[in-house]
Amino acid sequence: MFGRVKPLDAILATAEKKSLHRSLGAFQLTMLGVGAVIGTGIFVLTAEAAQKAGPGMMISFIIAGFVCAVAALCYAEMASMVPVSGSAYTYSYAVMGELVAWMVGWALVLEYAIAAGAVSVGWSGYFTGMLGHLHDYADFLPNVVIPHALANGPTAGGIVNLPAMLIATATTALLVLGTTESATVNAVLVVIKITALTVFCLLALPVLNAKHFVPFMPTGFGGVSAAAASIFFAYVGFDAVSTAAEETVNPQRNMPIGLIGSLAICTLFYILVAAGVIGSVGAQPMLDALGHALPTGSTQLTDACGKINGQAVVCSKEALAWTLRQIGYAKIGNFVGLAAIMALPSVILMMIYGQTRIAFVMSRDGLLPAKLSNVHPKFKTPHVVTIATGIFVTVFAAFFPVGLLADVSNSGTLFAFAMVTIAVPVLRRTDPDRPRPFRTPAVNVVSAISLIGCVYLFFSLSFYTLLLFFSWAAFGLLIYFAYSRKHSHVGLGTEPGEEA
Ligand code: ALA
Repeated sequence: MFGRVKPLDAILATAEKKSLHRSLGAFQLTMLGVGAVIGTGIFVLTAEAAQKAGPGMMISFIIAGFVCAVAALCYAEMASMVPVSGSAYTYSYAVMGELVAWMVGWALVLEYAIAAGAVSVGWSGYFTGMLGHLHDYADFLPNVVIPHALANGPTAGGIVNLPAMLIATATTALLVLGTTESATVNAVLVVIKITALTVFCLLALPVLNAKHFVPFMPTGFGGVSAAAASIFFAYVGFDAVSTAAEETVNPQRNMPIGLIGSLAICTLFYILVAAGVIGSVGAQPMLDALGHALPTGSTQLTDACGKINGQAVVCSKEALAWTLRQIGYAKIGNFVGLAAIMALPSVILMMIYGQTRIAFVMSRDGLLPAKLSNVHPKFKTPHVVTIATGIFVTVFAAFFPVGLLADVSNSGTLFAFAMVTIAVPVLRRTDPDRPRPFRTPAVNVVSAISLIGCVYLFFSLSFYTLLLFFSWAAFGLLIYFAYSRKHSHVGLGTEPGEEA
């Protein structure tokens, strides 16, 4: 079952070998990471983390950042050794065989496509908030209120999330037309995001009230773990750094600086922002009669929030803008909101793009229908897979709450990370002489810690999330044995484009 391995040399030969110019230094890599990482996690999910862990969410941010850092060190070795599209899927194919690779690729659909849905819903919260405060931006503009039913999915008491559908569709259209993110756009967005978060900290931290930190862990360490598993989403995207290994000057030195540097910067910002939210407006969860935190994204929470007119950060869909408005900086709060509205679509774009790449490689390997990798004659983009992904993302964005989507995405990401973490030391033994532009330091220790961290966060996700993950995995296995196994080029001994 684990026998079908695609040799690394074949992988490197199948992928068109372009030799890229090595131009990226430690600073550019760090910026790349920060650009890919900061998004819905901090701008929106802070409220969800608060609902799960209260002020203890500060510890959650540290735990999630640490697990990402050790996983990142493993990722980097693979990325530098196998610098081709497909990321964790490709590495698993080479080391653990086709079945594991298929499962990883299948899980990556959750990571990327569902994450794109989550960020779309996050964007919708800020967009709806902005429309509701348009008059504050300019006197001649009227406030526009989108009815709750049309800006929320059914579990949050609405019908459909129209703004989320709009942004997911628009981003898909851009990708079909051939938009990829340029380094300049990334640099501008990084500056916008960092400025927004810095301004937030500068205004919120001075009004910090130590009383708001008590009780620190109202839901116990279980709540902190659950919040860590959710807030893990805020760090997803750093793998963008490891995939740039081939374009990096002196990767052995610059790769860890880029990875750890971007994660360190994000972790620092996240902790300061979390402290700002907690200290300025308080972040205690809404509890039920028995003292348990109400589930995030649920109608119970929506109802409880309705009773207090949404006057708690855990009720807000635009946590940072809401906090600033609350402490008397309405206009600046609006501009932080605007920063999120401008910056989040690039995260959606990268996620959908990542998804199309994985599906593209899987279809090139024969595990998905070849039609998916068709390239549009005019736009030169893989339009079939892009549109299919776009429809998937739009449907999820329309009907599901941001927290659930982020959690489900995390389950897929953690599974893929765990597989990569196992692959690194295995490959050190089975293929010790292959050149490794970057070597994970203390590989046995680091990969063991990373594996434990991924498993711990995975099982800290809600039961419902795990159920969805395993159902998705079972569905994936069904497709593998019904279709993919019979069409695999490795299994048939054929080349892409060739019939058996
Ligand atoms: N880390 C990205 C975000 O928080 C996915 O939006």
